[in-house]
Amino acid sequence: MSPVQPSPSPSPQSLSVVILAAGLGSRMRSQLPKVLHRLAGKPLLNHVLDRAEELNAQQRLVVIGHQADLLQSHLKNDSVDIVLQQPQLGTGHALTLALQHIPQDCQSVLVVYGDVPLLQLNTLQTLVTLCEGKHVALLTQLVDDPQGYGRILRDENNRVMGIREHKDASASELAIKEINTGIMALPRSRLQGWLTALTTNNAQGEYYLTDVIALAQQSGCTIHTCHPQYDWEALGVNSQQQLAELERHYQAHVALTLQKEGVAISDPHRFDVRGKLHCGQDVYIDVGCIFEGQVTLEDGVRVGPYCVLKDCTVSQNTEIHAFTHIDGAVIGAHNRIGPYARLRLGTITHEAVHIGNFVETKKTTLGNSSKANHLAYLGDSTVGARVNIGAGTITCNYDGVNKHQTVIEDDVFIGSDTQLVAPVTVAKGSTIGAGSTIVTSTPPGELTLSRSKQVSISRWRRPLPKKD
Ligand code: UD1
Ligand code: CA
Repeated sequence: MSPVQPSPSPSPQSLSVVILAAGLGSRMRSQLPKVLHRLAGKPLLNHVLDRAEELNAQQRLVVIGHQADLLQSHLKNDSVDIVLQQPQLGTGHALTLALQHIPQDCQSVLVVYGDVPLLQLNTLQTLVTLCEGKHVALLTQLVDDPQGYGRILRDENNRVMGIREHKDASASELAIKEINTGIMALPRSRLQGWLTALTTNNAQGEYYLTDVIALAQQSGCTIHTCHPQYDWEALGVNSQQQLAELERHYQAHVALTLQKEGVAISDPHRFDVRGKLHCGQDVYIDVGCIFEGQVTLEDGVRVGPYCVLKDCTVSQNTEIHAFTHIDGAVIGAHNRIGPYARLRLGTITHEAVHIGNFVETKKTTLGNSSKANHLAYLGDSTVGARVNIGAGTITCNYDGVNKHQTVIEDDVFIGSDTQLVAPVTVAKGSTIGAGSTIVTSTPPGELTLSRSKQVSISRWRRPLPKKD
């Protein structure tokens, strides 16, 4: 940052977010680094990175160690600072290494974990606000089963005195139900002193970041605590089972948020958003649907069971029937799509279009009130208004080397089982007889057909089965 360019508004409290991700994750039983496993279609680490971005952090640091090469290449296009921790001598050691990359004028350091993907923005904002660049703010939680977690030690006035790791705790400390989530905000200016004072004098022989809390308390620093709004926010991923559990927490929260906005979701347990779903009023979504990327469903849209909708917009009052796949399409109003339709990249439908079962479209526009109701392939095509595409119609758009365009003008009727060999134009008002192979453009308003002459052989006999 250049000092000669003052920022237009008072600069927000400067914040560095340190993401700890050097651990091994062996319980995933996978070649893939734990933090690259996906939740809602996005790597765990990216959930955390995106949150840090939403916090307007000036700096995001990722501490990596195990499988550093894979993580480094995963992060190569992100504006993050990478800190290599090899070997891993504990969470305190990880932050000590990160601190060397945090500018002196940074006020607060927020420590989060790469395998804790569900922390809500307001929870992290609260921690940063409590820290104010001078206090310690800890995210703690009251749990029924504190097994394995660090325990929050408080004095008789309820002031936080320190954190005791499970493996170092006495019997009475083990009974404490307030646990350390590991997420905390710390004042940059005090960290160096505290971290330097850490020792490995504990049950695991590690530098515990949690020991910073007692040091902070002893040096007169105020220790604030707060709890997450939802009890699943601070859950981490250590196994495939936990990953699946967190996925359901995430999806239930997305479903609940949409339900509060008025979306009718027939079963929130069978509902998955892997990206962002925007819904208008009176949208209905049946079971088993998956929404990927950016999907918009306008007012009155109904989506039948087991549809996959990716990067698409569906306009008002359109019905998508069961088992339909849409990817990269813009669907008009009052359409009826599916069941079993596949609308691929570059499909655009205008109003009142019907696309039925086993119809595939790609880079194709269909005008108002056009219909392709059964078993068709429309690729690289422009279809006008009020066109009827018969069952089994295929645009032969690919000659093995290049793709070619098919133009079907308004009010055309294409008989069943027609092949349209592109490039070809079917002019306005034409009718194509069933079973035709159309290789040259047709005149408007006429019937065009190509069909071999029908013959019947009267003395023909069916073959008999061989005797042997
Ligand atoms: C830590 C806390 C504990 C807390 C618990 C919450 C310490 C000493 N203990 O324990 O109080 O209740 O989290 O889940 O901090 N990591 C590194 N480098 C290291 C060690 C760990 O980057 O050298 C990363 C891990 O990848 C992980 C995170 O830090 O993302 C936490 O490490 P983990 O070993 O899971 O800590 P716990 O022992 O569970
Ligand atoms: Ca852990």
